[in-house]
Amino acid sequence: ARAEIGVTGLSVMGRNLARNLARNGFSVALHNRTVARTNSLVADHGDEGDFIPSESMADFVASLKRPRAVIIMVKAGKATDAVIDALVPLLEKDDIVIDAGNAHFVDTARRERDLAAKGLHFVGTGVSGGEEGALLGPSIMPGGSAESYRKLGPIFEKIAAQVDGTPCCVHVGPGAAGHFVKMVHNGIEYADMQLIAEAYDLLRAGLGASPAEIAEIFREWNSGDLDSFLIQITAEVLAHTDGKSGQPFIDVVQDRAEQKGTGRWTVQSALDLGVPITGIAEATFARSLSGHVAQRAAAQSTFAGRAADTPIAGLVEDRKQFIEDVRNALYASKIVAYAQGFDHIRAGSKDNDWGIDPGAMATIWRGGCIIRAKFLDRIREVYAENPYLESLLVAPYFAEAVANGFDSWRRVLVTAIRGGVPTPVFSSSLAYVDALRSPRLPAALIQGLRDNFGAHTYQRVDRDGSFHTMWAEDKREVDA
Ligand code: 6PG
Repeated sequence: ARAEIGVTGLSVMGRNLARNLARNGFSVALHNRTVARTNSLVADHGDEGDFIPSESMADFVASLKRPRAVIIMVKAGKATDAVIDALVPLLEKDDIVIDAGNAHFVDTARRERDLAAKGLHFVGTGVSGGEEGALLGPSIMPGGSAESYRKLGPIFEKIAAQVDGTPCCVHVGPGAAGHFVKMVHNGIEYADMQLIAEAYDLLRAGLGASPAEIAEIFREWNSGDLDSFLIQITAEVLAHTDGKSGQPFIDVVQDRAEQKGTGRWTVQSALDLGVPITGIAEATFARSLSGHVAQRAAAQSTFAGRAADTPIAGLVEDRKQFIEDVRNALYASKIVAYAQGFDHIRAGSKDNDWGIDPGAMATIWRGGCIIRAKFLDRIREVYAENPYLESLLVAPYFAEAVANGFDSWRRVLVTAIRGGVPTPVFSSSLAYVDALRSPRLPAALIQGLRDNFGAHTYQRVDRDGSFHTMWAEDKREVDA
């Protein structure tokens, strides 16, 4: 046996990951359910490195050096379990099974327990960067045992994206920590994309600018604080003209955003942990709303609304100021989305004893992944200084950016509300900051109501203890 690592599941992500490994000098065992894919990979790219193709799972396992390391790259869910079931009887003690798909971390935790009982390592690994990242250098987020990382680390760190000589890969933590962090990464990705979409919608409504003109604005923004992969490709998508119709591409695409599950899982997990990731939740619901075709049709015939490609006359007076306001609001809201995502990581880490270093996550997200952005370097610096920071929002650099954005943020939202342009994440992000900084919240009234209808008790500002008011009687207060 000569292969250092194997890949089973050779659709585009697995294929590119296998090529990346081979190009970096590792001998790679290949396997796919249908042999045609394996053969075409070898036929098309066999000269890129040392590939060892196998038709059967048994031959594939036999071609691997021990302890074996097998990457599974199939559709998350049942397909992963099916591959694990076929693979495991062929493996031996200390072999390592790596799931590089977008698995739910709860499934990863279960699989790790099952395989550990058989003396095997199971490493749920987040891989971000899409097809191109998989080939040229993704951001890699492996969980699992420290022992497995001793073997996998040198391989993964070599094939990962590199930023300033630092690989975008680190051992995230034990168990399902890697897939948990990848899930939150995707949640942030949802918020980031929804914010970009809201900014585009506002610019189109307010300025009556064409998609190509808005592409120029994004291109300019990409040279400042907002510098990021998603802003860069936004300019590319908006500037694109549809070959068939000659229309802007964006106007011929159905306005229903799909999702495979990672955003929904992020919100579900945050609800369980009690972490208010409001921007990520609104972004996930915005996708759901866009897909509710019948409800949208019913509402459209009841209350006529604005079409996304129609400007609103007279909505914006000072065009230059408006563009700057949208930029500032976008940046401040984006900071909120990342602050909430990092809160979620810290809460998940604490709940599961994963010991995740938030600064290390910012470090490995600087390159390779979909949310890669210049300001992740700032997040890295902030956590390097204080890993226990209460919120990213209060770190001086981010606090200043948010505070400087307040006026713009409010002006943009007033314009959005006047024009009827929906901005769920811009709005909820400002509400989040306003609530956090508020010395007194109306939660006191909620406590009063709960006590009134259900004797749920309350605490007082001036005395320790729990209290209940006898609402239906003489309204005297009693100790609860
Ligand atoms: C990445 C992406 C990747 C994939 C998402 C898309 O980090 O490379 O997040 O994992 O594009 O699964 O998710 P949706 O289909 O839910 O938008």
